[in-house]
Amino acid sequence: MQAEIATYSSHPAIQNTDLSRTRKSAALQLARLERLVLTGFMGAGKSTVGRMLADRLGWEFLDLDALIEARAGLNVPQIFATHGETHFRKLESQALASALGRRNIILALGGGAPEVLTNRLLIEQTPATATIFLDAPFSTLFDRCMLQALNAPAAVPIADAEVPEPATLRPLLADPAAAESRFLARRPIYRRLARLIVDTSALSTEETVGGILQTLNAYRTGRS
Ligand code: S3P
Repeated sequence: MQAEIATYSSHPAIQNTDLSRTRKSAALQLARLERLVLTGFMGAGKSTVGRMLADRLGWEFLDLDALIEARAGLNVPQIFATHGETHFRKLESQALASALGRRNIILALGGGAPEVLTNRLLIEQTPATATIFLDAPFSTLFDRCMLQALNAPAAVPIADAEVPEPATLRPLLADPAAAESRFLARRPIYRRLARLIVDTSALSTEETVGGILQTLNAYRTGRS
């Protein structure tokens, strides 16, 4: 199986999960893609990679968290603090359904979106849609998130709070042990949903985007 992956994927860091399906039908579907959905845990680089991919394809980039925030008129930490995670998940499913109605989009999901069955069904049942999982070890992801938070202290103006703690930029990272448990529980879900799995641990954003485009082009042209 591993040898087949190596011959069918066109980039060493990218694993294609379509091997159980016929090559012909996978190629056909990918040639008609209208939506690429990026998944992965917090810090995976979904938004950064998504923006660059959208730019390269001339497609629109949508960030699900940004969509939720625009629709709710509150930022993500405010939604968690005021209404709780359950309410956030409801808003997330509604925003996802709306986003999947658009064409020629790169959609970056929040890390928890694939955990909800309805969301997975929505994604899987939307035609011309492929999901790409940006993978990396938990420690790498956690460090990236902490760095991002330290570099963006003014990004989260929570009412009445002074300077937000770095972890409050992503409320679910406030407890690192609980965050790691979530990561371990979610990883198999991300893998199952994905058409392509990219090990981003040793790749720059440019390399990740280049690898994804190279792999998609190989499908389109029938090369491996
Ligand atoms: C979450 C990830 C966040 C955001 C929210 C919950 C999660 O998005 O949706 O804080 O459950 O993993 P990013 O993955 O874009 O950080």
